[in-house]
Parts: sequence; structure tokens; C-alpha cells
Amino acid sequence: MDKVRVGFIGCGGIAQYHFGHMERTAKAQVVAVCDKLADRAQTAAARFKAKPYTVYAEMLDKEKLDAVFVCVEPSAHDGMEFMAIEKGCHLFVQKPMTLDMTYARKVRTALAKKGLVSAVGFQCRYVDTLPRVKAWLDGEKLGMVSCFRLGGLPMVWWWRQRQHSGGQVIEQTVHNYDILRYLLGEVTAVTGMAREGIVTGIENYDTEDASSVTMQFKSGVVATMMTGCFSPDAFGAGDFLFYSLEGQLTYGLGGDFKIQKQNLTLTGKPANDYGQECDETFLDAIIENDPSLVLSPYADACKSLELVIGATESMRQGGKLIQLSGK
Ligand SMILES: NC(=O)c1ccc[n+]([C@@H]2O[C@H](COP(=O)([O-])OP(=O)(O)OC[C@H]3O[C@@H](n4cnc5c(N)ncnc54)[C@H](O)[C@@H]3O)[C@@H](O)[C@H]2O)c1
Repeated sequence: MDKVRVGFIGCGGIAQYHFGHMERTAKAQVVAVCDKLADRAQTAAARFKAKPYTVYAEMLDKEKLDAVFVCVEPSAHDGMEFMAIEKGCHLFVQKPMTLDMTYARKVRTALAKKGLVSAVGFQCRYVDTLPRVKAWLDGEKLGMVSCFRLGGLPMVWWWRQRQHSGGQVIEQTVHNYDILRYLLGEVTAVTGMAREGIVTGIENYDTEDASSVTMQFKSGVVATMMTGCFSPDAFGAGDFLFYSLEGQLTYGLGGDFKIQKQNLTLTGKPANDYGQECDETFLDAIIENDPSLVLSPYADACKSLELVIGATESMRQGGKLIQLSGK
């Protein structure tokens, strides 16, 4: 195979991001698109001369697809992955892959049974400065890590309702949690607290405005993650501060870093289009029949999902310590 026949389920905001990537690669052809909203499906179909659908079961039945991108809101995963897997389609699923850990683990098992390539939309793993940052951290005796992410409210209707998005930590800050896991390994336990009441005047809003979560890593490292969605003027500020026995490293989610040690300051900036790379790596893994190329396979993403669901559960139970299975 030299061109992957791709179908989309969900043609909203993040699908547009993937559509741009599909247009800029010769490795894929978008042949079918599906959205419950017919106008979205039709607009996307016109862009690629693809076939529009409003019911994904019909698309999966009628089209011969190699891969499916699942780009629906977190609460809308109602079995589409299983149907696509049954048809033998490789899967790219947007984060958070669902709000239900049992569902996620069933998808993981079904993918493994069929030996399919999978990827989750953790594109920040593909930032080209990250290997250098990871190499430095691997060589250090780390003590503690302090992280934050602050921004405003995304304007999609479902984001403000916990039953649909899972809340800020699960929907948004999951990127930051995932990068922490990628750099430092597994988290064994979490405890968190959240506040409400600063964001006002938004209809149906019932998610946390801000939270602070403490994590214990298997390695012994302790980390805190503070995050909030109450400040539209924060320009998406997001940083990780790693403190080791002999130095410190500052990393921004977008890839800028600064390492400071005695008599040494080292800085770096990212240079790649990591969203494009994320999608192309998924396509390469299919074409080369090598699932190991993908940096964020579904099975690994399940651990990041368990972490943010655990953190959110702790917040909702007044800081109760939640042990993670790491599965
Ligand atoms: N990786 C990232 O940085 C990133 C950025 C933004 C969003 N996301 C994730 O992408 C997902 C979608 O977010 P969005 O901003 O595109 O939302 P959106 O509301 O803009 O789009 C979702 C689309 O899915 C469609 N849909 C829902 N159920 C469907 C079904 N059963 N069949 C067909 N279509 C269906 C909706 O009609 C809608 O058009 C979310 O999980 C979100 O967290 C990831």
C-alpha cells in the first residue's frame, strides 16, 4: 500500500486540523467523511471529493477504508471504534478517547486482537525538541516537578458540561499529563483539589475552574499540576519545571526549553510541524506495517486517560488519594 484510504467520523474543529495535514501529504486519500450534521459532512466531502455520510455505520459498511480518524466529542464514543476495528480499519482516535475507562480498555483489547495500528491525538509527543529534553532528564537525579497550564474556555458547546467533556483536566490538560508520563514514566497515585465559582455567566457550565493535583511517580519523583480555564488572557501559558540534584529544566508544551546547571545555560526551540508529523507517522506505520513507529498508541494513551480520570475523581472526592493501576 502506498496511499492509505481514510475515513473520518466527526468533521468539526479538530477534524479541520487533520484535513490540513491530509492535504499536505501524498500518503493518504480521504475517501469518505461522516458527521451527524449533514452540512459539515458535505463541506468536508467537497474539500476532498469524498463521499459524505451522516451515519457512521453506513459509511463503514459501504466504503473500503484502511484507516478511520475518530474526531467526535468525548461523550460521543458510542461503539464506532469497535465497528471500525471489526472492518479491519486502523484507528486514529482523538484524546480523550472516551470518558469511560472500561470502554477504552475494550477498544485497546479489540485493537490488539486484530493487530491494527492505532494512534491517539497527543501530537505534543512529536515536538522535535522533546528527545533532547528527555535525554537530559534521563541523565539527572530528579527530585520534583512543578507544572501549570492556564487558559480560557473553548467555545464548543459540549466543553462546559462535565458529562460531555469530562472537565478541563480530562479534556485539555490531558496533553500536559501525557507529556509528563512520556518523560517520567508511570504515576502510581494522585490526589487533587479543584475550585469553582470564578467562571460565571456561561450557560450549563459545570466543570472545574481550576485544579491542583499532586502525583507520585513510580520512580519516586513527586509532581504538581496546576491548571485553570478561567483566564482567556493567559495566552495558553503552559510550563513544566523539572528540578534535579544539579540543575533545572524549563519546558513549554510547544517545545521551547531552557536547561540551567552550574556554568551552563542551554536553550532550544522547536522547528517541526509536529501535528503534521503525528498524522504522517500514523500513516507510515500503516504503510510500513510497523505499529511501533507511533509515539502515542491507544494502549499507552489508556494510561494517560486513567491518570486524568483518577485526578478528576480525587478532586470530586475532596482530595481522596487514588491509586492507579497503570493498565
Ligand atoms: N489534539 C488536540 O489538540 C485537540 C484539539 C481540539 C480538540 N480535540 C479533541 O477532538 C475531539 C473533537 O473536538 P472538536 O473540537 O473537533 O469538537 P466539535 O464539536 O467541533 O466536533 C465534533 C464533531 O463530531 C460530530 N459527531 C458527534 N457524534 C457523532 C457521530 N456519532 N457520528 C458522526 N459525527 C458525530 C459532531 O456533530 C461534531 O461536528 C474531542 O475529543 C476533543 O478533545 C483534540
